[in-house]
Amino acid sequence: MKYGRIYNFSAGPAMMPEPVLEEIAAEVLNYRGSGMSVMEMSHRSAVFQKIRDDAENDLRELMRIPDSYRVLFIQGGGTLQFSMVPMNLFRGGTACYVESGAWSHKALAEAKRYGNALAWASSADREFSYVPDCSALTLPENTDYVYICENETIHGTTFYNLPETNGVPLVSDQSSMFLSRPCDVSRYGLIFAGVQKNVGPAGMAIVIIRDDLIRDDLAPKTPVYLRYKVHADNDSMYNTPNCWSLYCCGKVFRYLLELGGLPEMERRNREKAALLYDFLDNSRFFHGTAAKNDRSLMNVRFVTPSPEQDAEFVAAARAAGFENLKGHKSVGGLRASIFNAMPKEGVEALVAFLDRYEKAHT
Ligand SMILES: Cc1ncc(COP(=O)(O)O)c(C=O)c1O
Repeated sequence: MKYGRIYNFSAGPAMMPEPVLEEIAAEVLNYRGSGMSVMEMSHRSAVFQKIRDDAENDLRELMRIPDSYRVLFIQGGGTLQFSMVPMNLFRGGTACYVESGAWSHKALAEAKRYGNALAWASSADREFSYVPDCSALTLPENTDYVYICENETIHGTTFYNLPETNGVPLVSDQSSMFLSRPCDVSRYGLIFAGVQKNVGPAGMAIVIIRDDLIRDDLAPKTPVYLRYKVHADNDSMYNTPNCWSLYCCGKVFRYLLELGGLPEMERRNREKAALLYDFLDNSRFFHGTAAKNDRSLMNVRFVTPSPEQDAEFVAAARAAGFENLKGHKSVGGLRASIFNAMPKEGVEALVAFLDRYEKAHT
């Protein structure tokens, strides 16, 4: 790694691609002859308008987003979307949530404030270690939308098959898997992602929403900023957007296109995750916690034989230059987040370290 950088396994904010950081560094004092950095630039300027438009166009190309969907850049991160989704999508019916981990659990609790939201399926019975099978379930007749968290960052599980919703809009929180593999946008009503895991700097969420779900007839007290229509009608520039995050994310979109797009990201991500899971499957000391068929390509959860040993491992790993391997405080254990920007060499080095550690402790 150049510049004294280390392998950072944080679940977010997380690593960004080094070539992108180098480009940003080169432009930080004077963006392409404008005489100012993007941090200092009016969002109403022609220079920034091009940054915004290029970002949207490149994202559309990367994900092959159909024309019938709008792309919105909204401040407030993933959490604000837990509120905006029910505020904008409830039509007096029911919202069916698949509760597959901490983030869908939180989103469901928030939706209950705005309407009749229920856990349509849940994996709480086994500590959210798997993704519930929804194939035999039917939806209530008046279902307004079905909600999933497509990759549960804390529990390390992911959906490899989407639930069948028979025409009911499917809403997906893709925060911790956005752009990690190809995605058929036409299967969703709405996709959202906080950008600070797999794309760029924190402080922005990307929302991809089908035209017919953008409505005006919301509860009168719905704040102006929390209406998707306001963002759509103003090309995400109703107010000052998160200019810096948008600019950095745009650079990542372009970089991913140059690498070969989402099929190439999926190839790399599968290769990296396999290195780690193969090691864990054969280890007698470290154990993966997620059900094999559902385990995430992005967030690999595992444990040692005891919480004390977990803590000792985290300290030893840090001393060896592997940062942020501690599991989320709500579940403990260990977690390696290996988003798009984590190089394969980082995972190889981690596996070699795990192997050495295991040999020294058994
Ligand atoms: C899947 C998922 N959804 C939502 C969030 C919340 O995102 P934010 O911190 O941007 O509000 C997170 C944060 O880690 C997450 O992992």
